[in-house]
Amino acid sequence: MVDAPLPDPALVVLVGPSGAGKSTWAAARFRAQEIVASDDLRAVVGSGPSDLGASADAFELLDRIVAARTGRGLTTVVDTLGMEPERRRRHLGLARARGLPAVAVVFETPLALVRHRNRIRDRPVPAGVLAGQVRRLVDAAAQLRSEGWDQVRVVAPESAASPPPRPRSAPSSRSHDFGVILQVSRFPWGEEPLAWLTDIARATDEAGLQGIALMDHLIQIPQAGRAWEPLPELWVTLGVLAGLGTRLRLGPLVSPVTFRPAGITAKAAATLDAITGGGTFLGIGAGWWAREHAAYGLPFPSPKERLDGLESAIETIRALWAAGTKPYAGQRVSLPETTGYPRPAGAVPIVVGGTGARSLRVAARLGDGCNVPSDDATLERAIPLLRAECDAIGRPHEDVAVTVLDVPVVGRDRDDAWARVERLRGRAPAGTFAARHHAGPVSDHRDRYARLFERGVSSVFLALPDLSTPEDVLALEPLGSS
Ligand code: UTP
Ligand code: MG
Repeated sequence: MVDAPLPDPALVVLVGPSGAGKSTWAAARFRAQEIVASDDLRAVVGSGPSDLGASADAFELLDRIVAARTGRGLTTVVDTLGMEPERRRRHLGLARARGLPAVAVVFETPLALVRHRNRIRDRPVPAGVLAGQVRRLVDAAAQLRSEGWDQVRVVAPESAASPPPRPRSAPSSRSHDFGVILQVSRFPWGEEPLAWLTDIARATDEAGLQGIALMDHLIQIPQAGRAWEPLPELWVTLGVLAGLGTRLRLGPLVSPVTFRPAGITAKAAATLDAITGGGTFLGIGAGWWAREHAAYGLPFPSPKERLDGLESAIETIRALWAAGTKPYAGQRVSLPETTGYPRPAGAVPIVVGGTGARSLRVAARLGDGCNVPSDDATLERAIPLLRAECDAIGRPHEDVAVTVLDVPVVGRDRDDAWARVERLRGRAPAGTFAARHHAGPVSDHRDRYARLFERGVSSVFLALPDLSTPEDVLALEPLGSS
């Protein structure tokens, strides 16, 4: 592939995950002195290129070198992951101030190739961190378009290995959290829990779905199965999924605040986000099922107290995730300090589950999203209510995402869909059950989701009422990003 010439002198900022080939690309085109690499500077001020403890010093130096070189109108190639928008903008500002053309170079190296190169390195980056970087690249690539670069150039080497998995979603469709996430609410894993979880997660990734959400209950709920079926603990199971190194976003939908003190939930979600390199979401709600609380010896206070608890929980969680360690004195909660490390790698959206007026108010005031059932009647009522609550406090509607839980019967064709209805409906009349679960082939669901997205829904949490094997998940591929 022959590149068009780059402007020279210029500021050139590289953007790509570890092992994408950034340093190799730069070395083939620029003099060593023109390249400012965070790895090299870590080796200068620390013990070596992967001395992460030396990062702060290295980046301080890097910024000074970029300022000095661009200030002199010299070609400067910034060789870092390039995924921090603020640093990119600072560097772009320096180039602008000096009238230097500014070029961003995005490395869309296939994931399989990046993984392969990473594995054979001296000090491989952990698989989860690498997956997080690849995920953040999708966001960065979308942001770059609006940052004001003179050129955004894409370097996309051919994969030597097998075809890469599809990207999580096309940058063009990512104005916000658009997509379909598999909600797993039943765990028919037979004798092999770990193998089943692994296969389901890999199939979800392969189908191009955005992530996996886990229900948080202590006993299997009647809507999803029978009480003696396995229902694993939420955060242990998310930890297993996190270790698989997929690009899936992970989180609970919905975790009742009655199960754990809010600080513990903040800690768990921050840890999950840190070890996966971002992409965690946190669905929380007031809890509803008395039986599981009684069985596990947990208090189950009145609805009002639980909703009060939901508000306090969100405050506590946000305080512990925020930068710094200072004391926190909020509306409902006071904490003598807010020391919480690891911090989440990115912004973890808090999605408030619940359709009641008070839940929607909590979502509008304190949440990043609200999650409601996907049926028309609920949406017709909930979306205007949510928006009215936003208006009441002057919050833009788009700040609070509407997500839905959808429980579709998905068949290979109409016949198969009806066979599933017959198996699943219990005592419900087939017609009622089929309508409630939109029984049909996957193409019907794709059209239905397109209408939901048009209506302002930003994510669909899809729970298969008869999820059993990875093939069930692979069949959802038409709903994944293409
Ligand atoms: P680089 O070291 O160039 O990647 O290549 P990078 O993007 O700068 O990675 P970080 O961010 O510093 O971690 C990674 C490996 O891939 C090989 C290089 O030789 C190196 O071992 N590589 C790179 C190729 O084999 N072919 C290429 O076209 C590019
Ligand atoms: Mg490098």
